[in-house]
Amino acid sequence: MNASAAWSRLEPKLAYFRDRVRSLEYEPNRKNSFVAYTVERDSAYADQDGQRLLMMSGYSYLGLAGDERVVSAAKAAVDRYGTGNHGVRALAGSTPLHEELEAEVAKFAGREQALVFGSGYAANVGTVGAIVGPGDTVFIDKYDHASIVDGCKLSGATVTRFRHNDVAHLERRLAAAPDTGVRLVIVDSVYSMDGDIAPLVDLRKVCDAHNALLMVDEAHALGVIGATGKGIEEHFDYEVKVDVKLGTLSKAIPSMGGWVAGSAELIHHLKYAARPFLFSAALGPAQSAAALESLRILQREPERVEFIQQESERFRTTLHEAGMSTVDSETAVVPVIAGSDTAAYDYATVCRKNGVIGLPVVTPAVPNDLARLRIAITAAHTKADLEFAAEAFIKSARECRII
Ligand SMILES: Cc1ncc(COP(=O)(O)O)c(C=O)c1O
Repeated sequence: MNASAAWSRLEPKLAYFRDRVRSLEYEPNRKNSFVAYTVERDSAYADQDGQRLLMMSGYSYLGLAGDERVVSAAKAAVDRYGTGNHGVRALAGSTPLHEELEAEVAKFAGREQALVFGSGYAANVGTVGAIVGPGDTVFIDKYDHASIVDGCKLSGATVTRFRHNDVAHLERRLAAAPDTGVRLVIVDSVYSMDGDIAPLVDLRKVCDAHNALLMVDEAHALGVIGATGKGIEEHFDYEVKVDVKLGTLSKAIPSMGGWVAGSAELIHHLKYAARPFLFSAALGPAQSAAALESLRILQREPERVEFIQQESERFRTTLHEAGMSTVDSETAVVPVIAGSDTAAYDYATVCRKNGVIGLPVVTPAVPNDLARLRIAITAAHTKADLEFAAEAFIKSARECRII
C-alpha cells in the first residue's frame, strides 16, 4: 500500500472533526475554538484581536494567576533550579521542591502523604491504574471527568457507570456486581460542566455497605468549596472521609500538575505502580514553586474562597430572576444554558459583542439541547465585573431569544 492510500483510510476520522467544527464556526466572527487570548495579568480581562473583553470562562478560581508572590516564587525557582528536572522522578527528576510541595499538599488535604504528577489527567490515569486492574471493578458516575474514564479503560478493570449523583442506582450496581477483587467508586467532588456537588455522605455509606473504596477528584473543589476551600470533606463538615483524594494544580492553583493524597502506604504504592508517574517527566521547578506558593496563599487568605462562594450565589440569583437556567449549579461553575449546539455558539458570539467571553460547551460533552456557556466565577473578578457580566449574559440571551 502506498502512503496516500494509507492516509486515505484516515480521511473519515479527519473529516469528522473538520465538518463538525465548520458546522459550528460557520461565520467568520465566531471565534470560540482554540482562540488565543492575551490575558491581562492583574485583572480578569483579556484581549482578543484588539477587543478588551471580560473573561468569564477561566478556571483560575482563586484569582492568583498574576499574583506577584506566585510569579516571584516561580522566578526564584527557575533561578535556583533551571527550567527542567532531568527526566522522571524515579531516576534523576526529584528535587527538594517536589518534596516541599508534596508535604504542603498532604498538610492541606489532611493526609499522611501526597504525590504530585505532571497533570491532573496523569494523576487520574495513574492512580486508577495502580489501584484497579483485571479482576477488579470500578464504579463511575456518568459525568465523571474523561481522565477518570480513560484511567478505567486502561486499567483493564470491569467498568460500571451509574446515573449522575444517583446513589440508589450506584447501590444497585454494587449489589449486582461480583463481590470479589478491589471495588472502587470514583466521583468528581464538583462536576465541571454542571457545577453540582457529589452527595458524599450517602456515597460513603453505600461504599461501606458494599466493600468499596471511595475516590474523589477535587479538581473543581479545591479552593472553591468548604468554608476554607479544602474541598468536599470540609463542605460536608468532615462528617465522612474518603479513601483517595486527588486533584489538579491547574485551576484554583494557577500552575500545572496533579496531586494525590492518602496514607503513606498508598503513596508508596503509587510511586512504583502509577505509570504516568513512573514513566513521565517530573513537574518543572517554576510549576512546583508556583503551586506551593499558591497553596500557602490559599490557606492564609480564606476570604478569596468566601468571595467566590458569595458572588457565585449572587450571580446565579441574578440570572434566575431574569428567567435563565443554570441547571443544578451550586458552586463557582455556573453553566448558562443556551439549548442546541448552534444556539450556544450563536450566544457566545453575541456575548462577545456585548463585552464578555463565555465559551460554549456542546454535545457530546453535555446532553442534547443542554449546550451551554460554561461560566466560572473567580476571585480575579470584582463585584462590578460580575454585575457587568450578568447584565451582558442576560442582554445577549434576550438578543438570542434564549429568554
Ligand atoms: C474534573 C477534572 N479532573 C481532572 C482534570 C485534568 O486536570 P489537568 O488539566 O491538570 O490535567 C480536569 C481538567 O479539566 C477536570 O476538570
